[in-house]
Amino acid sequence: MKTSIIVTTAMGLEAVLKRELLDLGYRDLIVEDGKIELEGDLTTICHLNIWLRTAGRIYLKMGTFFADDFDALFDNTAELEWEKWIGKNDIFPIYKVSSKNSVLHSKSQCQAIVKKAIVTRLQKKHNVVSLPEYGNEFPIRLQINKNQVTLSIDTTGQSLSKRGYRAHMDIAPIRETLAAGLVYLSRWRAEEDELIDPMCGSGTILIEAAMIGKNIAPGLNRGFLSENWPMIPKKLWENTQEDALSKIKTDADFKVYGSDTNHTALSVARKNAELAGLDNIFFQNRDFKDVQSKRRRGKIITNPPYGLRLGEQEDSQQLYKDFGNACQEHFPEWSSYIITPDKSFEMLYGKKATKKRKLFNGPTECHFYQFY
Ligand SMILES: C[S@@+](CC[C@H](N)C(=O)[O-])C[C@H]1O[C@@H](n2cnc3c(N)ncnc32)[C@H](O)[C@@H]1O
Repeated sequence: MKTSIIVTTAMGLEAVLKRELLDLGYRDLIVEDGKIELEGDLTTICHLNIWLRTAGRIYLKMGTFFADDFDALFDNTAELEWEKWIGKNDIFPIYKVSSKNSVLHSKSQCQAIVKKAIVTRLQKKHNVVSLPEYGNEFPIRLQINKNQVTLSIDTTGQSLSKRGYRAHMDIAPIRETLAAGLVYLSRWRAEEDELIDPMCGSGTILIEAAMIGKNIAPGLNRGFLSENWPMIPKKLWENTQEDALSKIKTDADFKVYGSDTNHTALSVARKNAELAGLDNIFFQNRDFKDVQSKRRRGKIITNPPYGLRLGEQEDSQQLYKDFGNACQEHFPEWSSYIITPDKSFEMLYGKKATKKRKLFNGPTECHFYQFY
């Protein structure tokens, strides 16, 4: 079954996601802010969910149309072939609604109209009077931008950033998808470059790097909403998983290193690495000022404290100065990559970045400073 697919990502990571899709063999990609569209089939749904590292969710695109009044919204929604996916007992919440620069701005009204249009269509096509909604789940996303409506069905469920290796959640880690994006942007090569995160917290950047280095598909340790859908044969999921298992580079010979001054964070990091099945990440309790390496060249990728809470800014700014000095002293020929929202970072670090890129860490606007 041919279908249009929308892959979402964090703003700023579109080019990285595009590279991932090209590397997986996909072509004819339409890149827009925060998403990429492509054509695929049922196998594509399994493949993208299991393999993409920087994607948030994989959606089936049901249709897009112009609507500047409720009648157009209802009629065009009811024209789409919902019955191809949603059975007569299935659940179909309109769970994500957004409207920007559009005449139809009341989200709750648009949500109710879309629901009613789909109900009407399904009642007719399945030849039933009521839809009890107790079966499989097909969450529907409704987006309106400049009066252009896009309707899609979520195939993923819990966001793809949840890989299934997080042991504890009592500290605020960087999102896994963003951490993977930082590793890709740094162009780190497992067998060539040493990698250190000297403020590693719960180890997310290093775990993502080690998974990339060993070619471990990020979705191997978790489930997806569409695994329960009857139109995607179980065999397609099994084949994609088996293929991903066979592609793990079990003989990849590299190590990555993390340190931090927080004991609790380090014990979480060790647990997370173990849950991810990685034994090549070495964590130590150490201040970044004391971190050194015998290798002349390598990469530092880190997500330092942001100092966003009241009274913490001065501390974080001093830390950035100290970090800049430590990098000059102990790692003069290494490349460093730092994500922070602090606009004065380059001045504090003591060097102008070779490159910087705007990225969002959750809702926080940051820059990824790259020093080669
Ligand atoms: C934003 S958190 C990093 C979160 C991490 N990326 C993760 O995914 O969990 C910043 C980390 O810097 C550590 N840190 C602060 N000052 C440090 C220092 N002087 N040396 C080493 N680590 C430090 C903190 O303990 C904290 O874990």
